[in-house]
Amino acid sequence: MSEMASPDPEGVDGVRMTWNVWPRTKVESSKCVIPLAATVALIRPHPDIPRLQYAPLRCKTCSSALNPYARVDFTAKIWICPFCYQRNHFPPHYHAISETNFPGELYPQYTTVEYILPLSNSLNPSPVFLFLLDTCLIEEEIQFLKSALRRAIGLLPDNALVGFVSFGTQVQVHELGFSDMSKVYVFRGSKEIPADQVLDQLGLSTSGRRPHKTPAGVAGASVGGLPSSGITRFLLPASECEYTLNALLDELQTDQWPVPPGRRPARCTGVALSVAAGLLSACNPGTGARIIALVGGPCTEGPGAIVSKDLSDPVRSHKDLDKDAAPYFKKAVKFYEGLAKQLVSQGHVLDIFASALDQVGVAEIKVAVERTGGLVVLAESFGHSVFKDSFKRVFEDGEQSLGLCFNGTLEINCSKEIKIQGVIGPCTSLEKKGPSVADSVIGEGNTTAWKMCGLDKSTCLTVMFDLSSSDRANTPGAVNPQLYLQFLTSYQDPSGQSVLRVTTVTRRWVDSSVSSEELVQGFDQETAAVVMARYASLKMESEETFDATRWLDRFLIRLCSKFGDYRKDDPSSFTLNPSFSLFPQFMFNLRRSQFVQVFNNSPDETAYFRMLLNRENISNAAVMIQPSLIAYSFNSLPAPALLDVASIAADRILLLDSYFSVVIFHGMTIAQWRNLGYQDQPEHQAFAQLLRAPHDDSQMIIRERFPVPRLVVCDQHGSQARFLLAKLNPSATYNNAHEMSAGSDVIFTDDVSLQVFFEHLQRLAVQS
Ligand SMILES: *[C@@H]1O[C@H](CO)[C@@H](O)[C@H](O)[C@H]1NC(C)=O
Ligand SMILES: *[C@@H]1O[C@H](CO)[C@@H](O)[C@H](O)[C@H]1NC(C)=O
Ligand SMILES: *[C@@H]1O[C@H](CO)[C@@H](O)[C@H](O)[C@H]1NC(C)=O
Ligand SMILES: *[C@@H]1O[C@H](CO)[C@@H](O)[C@H](O)[C@H]1NC(C)=O
Ligand SMILES: [Zn+2]
Repeated sequence: MSEMASPDPEGVDGVRMTWNVWPRTKVESSKCVIPLAATVALIRPHPDIPRLQYAPLRCKTCSSALNPYARVDFTAKIWICPFCYQRNHFPPHYHAISETNFPGELYPQYTTVEYILPLSNSLNPSPVFLFLLDTCLIEEEIQFLKSALRRAIGLLPDNALVGFVSFGTQVQVHELGFSDMSKVYVFRGSKEIPADQVLDQLGLSTSGRRPHKTPAGVAGASVGGLPSSGITRFLLPASECEYTLNALLDELQTDQWPVPPGRRPARCTGVALSVAAGLLSACNPGTGARIIALVGGPCTEGPGAIVSKDLSDPVRSHKDLDKDAAPYFKKAVKFYEGLAKQLVSQGHVLDIFASALDQVGVAEIKVAVERTGGLVVLAESFGHSVFKDSFKRVFEDGEQSLGLCFNGTLEINCSKEIKIQGVIGPCTSLEKKGPSVADSVIGEGNTTAWKMCGLDKSTCLTVMFDLSSSDRANTPGAVNPQLYLQFLTSYQDPSGQSVLRVTTVTRRWVDSSVSSEELVQGFDQETAAVVMARYASLKMESEETFDATRWLDRFLIRLCSKFGDYRKDDPSSFTLNPSFSLFPQFMFNLRRSQFVQVFNNSPDETAYFRMLLNRENISNAAVMIQPSLIAYSFNSLPAPALLDVASIAADRILLLDSYFSVVIFHGMTIAQWRNLGYQDQPEHQAFAQLLRAPHDDSQMIIRERFPVPRLVVCDQHGSQARFLLAKLNPSATYNNAHEMSAGSDVIFTDDVSLQVFFEHLQRLAVQS
C-alpha cells in the first residue's frame, strides 16, 4: 500500500517487483501463487542519477559492475562482489580511495549510475530514418500522409539521414542523391528478395559483381557510420534533403495499377519491408537506423500477405484464428519472424504506423516491431489526431521528445539462488547462456542478455524469475540475508553518446514457512496485476487452448485461500489484508478487458493493445487494465469515482482514462445546460469552469502520452457513451434496475457484476 501511495513508486531505479520480500525456496515461492517478477524501466531519466565519465569496474569472476552493495576493504584496496563473493583488487587508478574519498558508484544512494563511454568509433553515427510509404491509398489519405511527412522532415535533426521507399504493387526505392533528376529503382512485389540481391540491384553490393553507379562527386564520401559510400545516394542528411523530398512528395501519386472491381489493391508490404531492411544492411550494424512504415491497408501481394485480393474474403478475425481458418496467418508470421531476425542482426528498428478502417496486418508484423523495439500506432485514418499527433511526437525535440535510443543491450546478473525464466516486452534474446538461466522459459528466455535495437524513455521490460531448486539455498546461516539483482543496459542515446546504465537492487529473503507477514507487506498489487496481464496475454498467444479467464480465476482463488483471513467454509468471515485488497478488483477488470475478451476486437487491435501493455510503465499499464474515472460536479473538487455505472449522474461530468482512449462524459442535465449555452452567460461562470475542467485535464493526459489516445467527448444516452459504459462495472442491469438511484444508467449485459464476482470468490477461497 505504501508503495502505491507514493508519487514515484519506481524510484530512482525504475524497478518494481511483484514481491519486495522474497521467499527463500522454490517450494515456498510456488505457494506465493503470484510469480516472482521485476519490471524495469530501463533508461527512465531521473535527476538523481549521476553520469560518470569513465568505465565501470567489473568483477573478475562474474563480470557484474562495482556497486554500493560491494563490501570494500579500504586498507587492502579490495572489494567483494555481492553476487559471487569474489575478492577483487582495485586497479591502480583507484588507489586513492578511502572511507572519506570514494567514487560515485560506491555512494549508497547511487544504486543506479550511468557510465558515459568513449565511442569506439570516432564518428558520431547519425540516426537514419528510412520512410516506407504505402501508395495504395485513396487520394485524401495520401494527402494526409504527405502533409504529415512534410512536417516530420521539417523537425528532423540536421545530422539525421533520410531515405525514402514507396510501395504498392511494386517497391520503389528513391535515390535522393541528385536534386534535379529523380531516379527510382523498382522491385517486383511478388517474390521475396534477399538482402544481397537488394544491395546488388541498388549497386551497393560489396562483392563487386556489379560496378557501383555512384556519381563521381559522391563516391568515397563517408557519412556517419556508413561503410558503403554508395548508400549516400539513398540516405541524405536532413539538412540537405528538404527540397528534394518535398519535390518527391509533390510528384508522388497513388498506386497506378488498376484494381478490378471486387478486388483489393495488390499491396506488397512484406517485400517492401524486406527491400527496406536490405537497403539498411549497407549501414554499419547497430547504427541508429529505423524503418518508419506507413501502411494503409492489408498486404495482399507476395510474401507476408495476410489476405487474398478477393474482397469477398474478409481479413481474418479472432474466430478464424481460433478455428484455424486463417490460411495466410502462420505463413505471414513466419515471414515477419525472418524479417525480425534480419533486422535484429543488423541492429535496426521497425516502426509501424497503421491507419485504415480495416486491418492491415499488425497481428502478423508485430513480431518484427516487438523484437526490434519499434514503435506502433494504430489509427483509423492518416487524418486522425491519433496518427497525426503521435507521428509528430516521434520527431520532436526537448521536453516532448520520446528519447529514442539505439543499439541497446540488457544484461542481468543475480544472486546465485535466482534463475531467470525470461523477459516479456520489446527485446530479443541474445542466446547468452549462464548459470542463472532457468530451465523453464517465459517470453524471451534461455539467456542472460537481450538486444533492444530501439528503446526509449518509457521502455519497461518484465523479467520473470524462478528460484534454484537445489537445497544449498536452504542451508541456514550459509546464505546472505539479502538477494541482489543487477541490470546493465548499454545503449546509444539520441545525441549519439554511448551509455552504460547500471542498476543494482537488493531485497530481503524471508523464511515464509515461518512467517508470512513480511512477505505480505512486500506485495505490490499494481505490479502483480500488470505482470499477470502480461503473462496471461503471452500464454493466450502461444498456447492454443489456453483459457485465460479460468487461469486467472484459479490464481486469484489460490491467492485468496493462501493470504485471506477466514474460517473454513464460512464465506462471510473472509477478509483480505490491505496489501491484497485491490488485487481482486484488478483481476475482475482484467477478465473484462480487451486483453482477455479479445473477440470484441480485431486481431490487429489485440496485437496493438498487447504491444503497448508489454512496453509501458506500471502506472500506464494498470490504467489499460483498470481505467481511472474522475467525477466533476458543482459542489466538490474533481474526485476519483468508482468504476461503476452508479457513478453516472445527470449533474456530473466524468473523465475516463483507459489509456487508449480518454472519454469526457456529460450527464444529461449538464448536456442540456451546455446545449442552452449557459456557459456563455456571465452569471454562469461556475458552469463554464465546470465544463472546461475535464477538457483541461484530458489535454494534460494526451500531451504526455505516446501513442496519443483517442479523445471521445459524449453525452449520457448518446451513441458514443458506449466508450464509457463498456468500462464500467455493471452493478445495475435489467435485473436490478429498480434498485438503482434515479438518473444513473443501466448496462445491458450478462456480465457478472463486481459484487457477484466477490461473492463467488469468497465462497471458493474459503472452501476446504
Ligand atoms: C552496439 O552495441 C554493441 C554492444 O554493446 C557494441 O559492441 C557496438 O560497438 C555498438 N555499435 C555501435 C554502432 O554503437
Ligand atoms: C553476470 O552476467 C554475465 C554476462 O551476462 C555472465 O557472463 C555472468 O555469468 C553473470 N554472473 C552471474 C553471477 O549471474
Ligand atoms: C536453451 O538453449 C539450449 C542450447 O542452446 C537448447 O538446447 C535448449 O533447447 C533451449 N531451451 C529452451 C527451453 O528453449
Ligand atoms: C509512466 O509514464 C508516464 C508517461 O507516459 C509518465 O508521465 C509517468 O510519470 C510514468 N510513471 C512512472 C512511475 O515512471
Ligand atoms: Zn562477482
